[in-house]
Amino acid sequence: MNFNTIGIVGLGYVGLPLALRFAEAGFKVLGFDIDPAKPQQINDGKSYIKHIGDDAVALAVARGFSATTDFSRASEADALIICVPTPLNQYREPDLSFVINTTESLLPYLRKGQLVSLESTTWPGTTDEELQPRIEQRGFVVGEDIYLVFSPEREDPGNANFTTRTIPKVVGGVTPACLDAGVALYGKVIDKVVPVSSTRAAALTKLLENIHRAVNIGLVNEMKIIADKMNIDIFEVIRAASTKPFGFVPYYPGPGLGGHCIPIDPFYLTWKAREYGVHTRFIELAGEVNSAMPQWVVGKIADALNDRQKSIKGSNILVLGIAYKKNVDDMRESPSVELMELLQHKGATIAYSDPWVPVFPKMRRYHFDLQSVALTPQSIAAYDLVLIATNHDVFDYQLIKQHAKLIVDTRGVYQDSAPHIVRA
Ligand SMILES: NC(=O)c1ccc[n+]([C@@H]2O[C@H](COP(=O)([O-])OP(=O)(O)OC[C@H]3O[C@@H](n4cnc5c(N)ncnc54)[C@H](O)[C@@H]3O)[C@@H](O)[C@H]2O)c1
Repeated sequence: MNFNTIGIVGLGYVGLPLALRFAEAGFKVLGFDIDPAKPQQINDGKSYIKHIGDDAVALAVARGFSATTDFSRASEADALIICVPTPLNQYREPDLSFVINTTESLLPYLRKGQLVSLESTTWPGTTDEELQPRIEQRGFVVGEDIYLVFSPEREDPGNANFTTRTIPKVVGGVTPACLDAGVALYGKVIDKVVPVSSTRAAALTKLLENIHRAVNIGLVNEMKIIADKMNIDIFEVIRAASTKPFGFVPYYPGPGLGGHCIPIDPFYLTWKAREYGVHTRFIELAGEVNSAMPQWVVGKIADALNDRQKSIKGSNILVLGIAYKKNVDDMRESPSVELMELLQHKGATIAYSDPWVPVFPKMRRYHFDLQSVALTPQSIAAYDLVLIATNHDVFDYQLIKQHAKLIVDTRGVYQDSAPHIVRA
């Protein structure tokens, strides 16, 4: 197959880096998004994702990357790669509407010989149960006219050790010809492509990876609570266990799960497993432990203030780090925000500091009319309590330790104990 023009549909945290990689490898890249602000910024050579620089977008644009909201241009692409959101709905069930809407918008413009790849994380069967019939209804034969694959994205935003090119990529095809086309496409831009026997195997691979993380984070969060009762530092224990050269993988506890993947993806499998009469107990249990963590942290905050004759009500609390993990600007499902809400609900006055998120953005569930507080000796000392929720590298932890009245540390930042530092 000849791939000249690559269409990337959905230009978010997954789609944009992928588009940049194809442009870097010399392909003409055409990006599609329903949010007009994104094509606009791309065409102006600007990035809207903080860990991706304007220069990277501008360079890709100079190499032939452009973006549009006009889906009729999908016929220009030899491959269409779908990277749209797969959230949960209000009943915590899969919301495939983005994937279905995208597919429906592309259908009128599909042409023979194109490859369609779904990258959004989803339940095994989505590609052959939802996409394939819709494509075939338009008179195409999948495997002959259109090549259809599932290839899950593996992205670790903010991790400088890996790039899109160096992260091995799993691909499954609906037919062997589809798989061959998928391997050929990704082989042009990814160092190592890992073919598997079906789109379903590819989808379950991604879910296994994320469920593995969710379950192990749940385990270590439970261990943290036990360690706390026993007055043992869980981070010291993890550091010690990590010296075992085999059979142990460190996972770190925190104030709860965040991001678009780990708190959400496992429940795509839970939902689909019901069709097969299977109850996914590990997933549910990990979800229960992890989602209880913000409440547990609030309990530790209440105790820490109580020990100083104070209550949450009426206290000024500064939350450090509101992105869901360090060194990124992504706030989706961030436990920091849930903590802010819980504390405010109990009567605290909340402020936050996060150089990655200068202004509190509009969110579906939460609203705070706040801007990031600059950290100075005076500003730090002005709060009754400083809560370390996300441990960005840019924070000056020594300065914080020196000037804060009371610190609650959920990330194991401070290895040495001090009277004004409480681990949570
Ligand atoms: N963010 C990650 O680290 C990560 C890692 C691995 C997998 N994933 C998966 O990749 C998928 C995309 O995630 P993301 O983080 O890039 O999401 P995102 O929200 O950052 O980006 C999705 C983009 O799709 C656009 N979009 C929505 N509906 C559309 C439509 N009908 N047509 C075209 N564009 C549309 C949105 O405007 C947005 O720009 C999800 O399934 C996610 O689970 C994400």
